[in-house]
Formats: sequence, structure tokens, C-alpha cells
Amino acid sequence: MKVQPFEILNNHLTKQKPTTSKPNGKKIYIETYGCQMNLSDTEIVMSVLEDFGYKQTGEINNSDVILLNTCSVRDNAEKKINNRLVHLRSLKKKNPNMIIGILGCMAERLRDELKDVDLVVGPDEYRKLPQLIENVIETGEKGIAVKLSKVETYDDIIPLRKEGVSAWISVMRGCDKFCTYCVVPFTRGRERSRSYKSILSETLALRDNNIKEITLLGQNVNSYEYEDKKFPELLRIIAKAVPDMRIRFTTSHPYDLSDNLLEVMAENDNICKYIHLPVQSGSNRILALMNRLYTTQEYLKIIDKARALMPEIALSTDIIAGFPTETDEDHRQTLELMETVRYSGAYMFAYSPRENTKSYKMKDNVPAELKQERLAEIIEHQTKISLNENKKLIGKTKSVLLESYSKKSSDNLLGRTDCNRSVIIPSENYEIGDKIDVKIEKVNSATLFGKPIK
Ligand code: 5AD
Ligand code: SF4
Repeated sequence: MKVQPFEILNNHLTKQKPTTSKPNGKKIYIETYGCQMNLSDTEIVMSVLEDFGYKQTGEINNSDVILLNTCSVRDNAEKKINNRLVHLRSLKKKNPNMIIGILGCMAERLRDELKDVDLVVGPDEYRKLPQLIENVIETGEKGIAVKLSKVETYDDIIPLRKEGVSAWISVMRGCDKFCTYCVVPFTRGRERSRSYKSILSETLALRDNNIKEITLLGQNVNSYEYEDKKFPELLRIIAKAVPDMRIRFTTSHPYDLSDNLLEVMAENDNICKYIHLPVQSGSNRILALMNRLYTTQEYLKIIDKARALMPEIALSTDIIAGFPTETDEDHRQTLELMETVRYSGAYMFAYSPRENTKSYKMKDNVPAELKQERLAEIIEHQTKISLNENKKLIGKTKSVLLESYSKKSSDNLLGRTDCNRSVIIPSENYEIGDKIDVKIEKVNSATLFGKPIK
């Protein structure tokens, strides 16, 4: 199969208005890996494709086009996708007309190094998908589109969301922070923010569609900036416009989290009292090597301010174990910081060297086994902290938004507290979308169990 770079295809792949939204008989099967931004992007991809008559299917064997929306943040994320590709290629042997496409960060990072796939489409090129697919069907040639954009490209697309009570709204894309370990600035490009007017109209439309909770999404939402509006103003505008909806946001970089943002959170009851605030390490030496732009003291000051304004606020974090040169003492400081903050939850990873990042060139002198040992210790520590923090909630009453039936049984409903903790209640006569007061009776490290208060 010949590789045809997108630039060459560009002539006949100009932005076309959809000719039809009638089904074209072609079915798309899509799998999403990685972060919430990818889940949100998959909704954009499906919206673009449905405008051109494609339909989504959950049946891989019954599909014409298989798309993997991928993640590059750690090597094991890419390994998982490579393993999946082995299986997909074997499906294609049986059905040679099947089109396999790679979207997202891996497409952007690896470009034409990705072999034996029909499409390679980066995160800012999804508008071109329908024409790229048509081109593969017509010519059998591989399509590659990986140009990153300097402006928001999907402002006018209404994402094709699954049914549910919560929705994501992308408010900014890209990242300019260049943490030394991270590929995101390379795969997602420079920071750019979406117009607050379009965010507001999307929010109002979601409210009118009975959505109860929105999460404002961005790689670094705190550096949102559009005309004269920064993130706190955006959050205030949205919170005031939809007082009955719950508002969440993620992800926050501690360097950009202002006092003003905390004040807006405290002032508005409908902004959930929960911040995901990745710390990455408890050692100032490692934080400097990571280019995180804050010290643990500065980080803890933010937490103190947040708790002074909102005593019930919950915080979660990301932690990397075994960054190059990390000593036992650095690791101990991470455990100590976790103890000080007492996070409600954490995403914890072993350091994974990524090509082209600055830390890739640093001597990775922490052996793989030691990284895993430290990671296991961090996970164990967090599990204990989560359990203890959850135990403090026994006997308390929490407002819970019911999101789905529990995976184990339809006799139970699963919801979340304002502070983002999962709660299981007996279904009784309650329905998905109800917001009810629940008295917490029992907990484990991951879940609360309670009874509704009538
Ligand atoms: N190795 C391990 N973890 C990483 N993350 C980002 N890059 C790497 C890497 N190279 C983690 C960070 C970030 C989260 C999304 O993924 O903790 O906050
Ligand atoms: Fe990656 Fe750092 Fe940007 Fe987060 S803030 S996406 S860790 S570069």
C-alpha cells in the first residue's frame, strides 16, 4: 500500500459541506483509549462522520471502518494499542475491505511510522475523516493527516454524545507547560481556547436536553483565555447560567490555579467541590527536574487556601514513581506529601521515558523493579488514605446524582457525590438523573454505600 501524505490529498479533500446525512450504508466501530479528552474527541469524530451518513456500531465484525482513538502518554498505553492492531490486522485478512484507522496522540506522534493501517489522523484533523475514508475506499491508498492547529478547530461541531446525565465540554486544547517527561505538548500542540460564547451555548443546549452535570475539559483548563476571559470568569459565567446543573472541570495545573478560581468555586454552590490537581512528586528536586514550576510548599499553600474556603473539598492527584535520579528520600517525600494532603483518590504511574521529551535524555537510573516497588508502595498508601477519608463520611448525608445502574445488579443505582466519590444505593423507585440526599452507611477505599433519605 502506497503512503500518500495528506498534503498531496489536500486538493480534493477541502472542507466540504456534508452532501447528505442519510445513511451511506457504512458502519464505524470506534474504541477510545486514554484520557477524557479522547472520550470527548470520539464524540466529535462520530458527529463529523454521522453528518456524512456513517453510523456507529458496537459490533466490530459488522463494521466497515475500525477506528482506534489512541493515547501516547506512557509506553504501556502504546503497547496495548499495538497488541490490538495485531488482532485487527488478522480481521482484515479475512475481510480485506475493512478500513483500519489510528486517531489521536499515537497518530500524531508516530505518523507514517504506523504500518499496515489505512488511516493515520491526528487530533486536530478529524474534520477530514469522511473524505479520507472515501479516498481509501476509492484508491486503496493510505491517508495521513497530522497537522496541528493554532486555533480551536471544532467550535461549531455538536459532539455526538451517548445517553446519560453527564457531558464533557472541551474548553481548551493543547499544552504549553512542557513538563520534561510529557509528550502531550508534542501530540496535542499549543494551548488554544474556545470562545466562551460557544461554550455557553453548548451548556444551555445540554441543559435543555436534560443533562444534569457538565465537565469542562482541557489539558490545562486553568490557562483558558479567550478575549478578556480567563478560566475563573468562564467558570462563573457557566455556573450562573445553569444554577441547577453540576459543574466540574479538569485538569488543573497547580502553577495556573489562581485564588480567584477558588473564590469562584466557593461562591457557587453548583460548582463541585473537587479539584484534580496533579502533584507528580513530593520532592522539590524532582519537581524542578520535571519543570513543574512549583515547589511542594507552593502546592500545599493552594490546598490550604482551598480548604480554608471550602472545608469539605476533595482533592485528587497524579503521581509518577521513579523519575530519573529519584532517590529513596525523594520517594519518601512523595509518601509524606500524600499523607499531608490526604487525597480522596490518585492516578499513579511508573515513569515511562518518551522519545523527544527532555527527560528522555536524562539518565534513567532508577531500575524498572525499583520503579514498580515504589509505585506499589504509593498505591498501597493511597488506598489506605482513601479508605480512611471515606470512613470519615459514615453517618453523613451527601447529595448524590444518580448516573447509572450498578454494574453488578439493577437492584442498585450508582451515583456520585459533589466531591466525586462513587456511591451505591438501593434502586427502589429512584431513576437515573435524580439528585437525592443519601446517608452513608458503609465504605471501602473506592466506594460509599448508603440509603436515600426520604
Ligand atoms: N511517564 C509516566 N507518567 C506520565 N504522565 C505523563 N507522562 C508520563 C510519563 N512519561 C502522567 C502524569 C500526568 C498523567 C496524565 O500522566 O502524571 O499528569
Ligand atoms: Fe503533560 Fe505537563 Fe502539559 Fe500535563 S501540564 S499535559 S503533564 S506537559
